[in-house]
Amino acid sequence: MFQGATILSIEQRKEDHIDLALKPENQGPLTTLLENIHFVHQPLVNMAFNDIDTSSEFLGYKLGAPIIITAITGGTRRAYEINKALAEVAEKYRIGMGVGSQRPMILNPDTLYSYKIVRKIIRSAPVIANIGIAQLAKLDIKTVEWLVEAIEADALAIHLNILQELVQLEGDRDFRGSFEAIQRIVDRIKVPIIVKEVGNGFSRECAEALYSIGVKIIDVAGAGGTNWVSIELARSRSNQSEKVFGIFKTWGLPTAISIAEVASIDNIVVIGSGGIRNGLDIAKAIALGADIVGMAQPFVKHVLEKTVDNFIETILTQLRVVMMLTQSKNIESLRRAPIVILGKLASWICARRLKLRNPNAYISCCDHYTV
Ligand SMILES: Cc1cc2nc3c(=O)[nH]c(=O)nc-3n(C[C@H](O)[C@H](O)[C@H](O)COP(=O)(O)O)c2cc1C
Repeated sequence: MFQGATILSIEQRKEDHIDLALKPENQGPLTTLLENIHFVHQPLVNMAFNDIDTSSEFLGYKLGAPIIITAITGGTRRAYEINKALAEVAEKYRIGMGVGSQRPMILNPDTLYSYKIVRKIIRSAPVIANIGIAQLAKLDIKTVEWLVEAIEADALAIHLNILQELVQLEGDRDFRGSFEAIQRIVDRIKVPIIVKEVGNGFSRECAEALYSIGVKIIDVAGAGGTNWVSIELARSRSNQSEKVFGIFKTWGLPTAISIAEVASIDNIVVIGSGGIRNGLDIAKAIALGADIVGMAQPFVKHVLEKTVDNFIETILTQLRVVMMLTQSKNIESLRRAPIVILGKLASWICARRLKLRNPNAYISCCDHYTV
């Protein structure tokens, strides 16, 4: 009885999250700070638009573009439909896809079909399993393996969402043993572990600690896109919650800062995400040091509006236009395209003395100290 009630409330929460994530007032209000990155326009290029190659490697697959659809949903009939439509797009364009939190699958294994549909459709790109840190700490290794194997995933994403849980009236409050929980599974699970945020970004310190125990991939999910404080406050409709948590709508590390923080660690794979909304954002994230980019809200929005093919064609064309205008024939050369970093992003990078991956990045506020 109690478990049934929990499933129902989780289902309702999933529905609310999708509906609220689509509302413009639950995006931002911080910006990604990608606006502080400026490509150096090249007026004379020696290449053909049709020769531009956006392919990139991720998790052993050759993707059509350096993009993944990050975790969104699972566990309900509507989630099944959304996952099916997203998977069709992912397979068509050979981009990666994550499923939403698999907690509903643990509470009710009958919901497995809503996740399994993704691998049924996607054959040419990676599928990523998903579980929250608060749940992970309570799971035995066999259950964690089941989450991955039941959907034939290529990697497991563990999401860190402390701020969202604190704002949520029914959220978790106890995060003791989180690091140890990741440490316990990282060597025992056969697939790579991705640790991701959900919209508050990632610090160098946290990424470094995770890298030291064998986590090789970080999805930064920075601030500037989907805002979980706004969403949870809209759900709670409590004046008291608004009074306490309203100020945290602007908490977190914007996406560009998060990418610079994590990419300053050699060899770590960086998924640049959080508020990535067009092809120019994608190009900037990559030139700043992201290996690939991730998007959630735009994909769910366009799937529900039945405009997802047009959306992806648009962002791919925009990405190729940027590549043309920066003389970048492929994604590897885009990583080295000259950029100038100004404003708050430049100040942050200088203050933290972050080493940039792009040898042609110029920063306004201090001597050029990148390698
Ligand atoms: C409707 C919705 C549901 C989400 N559910 C999950 C989830 O279950 N697990 C997770 O790790 N992230 C989840 N996210 C977070 C996204 O994967 C992503 O990190 C975040 O929304 C920032 O990207 P965006 O600004 O492109 O939306 C969800 C996002 C949306 C929009």
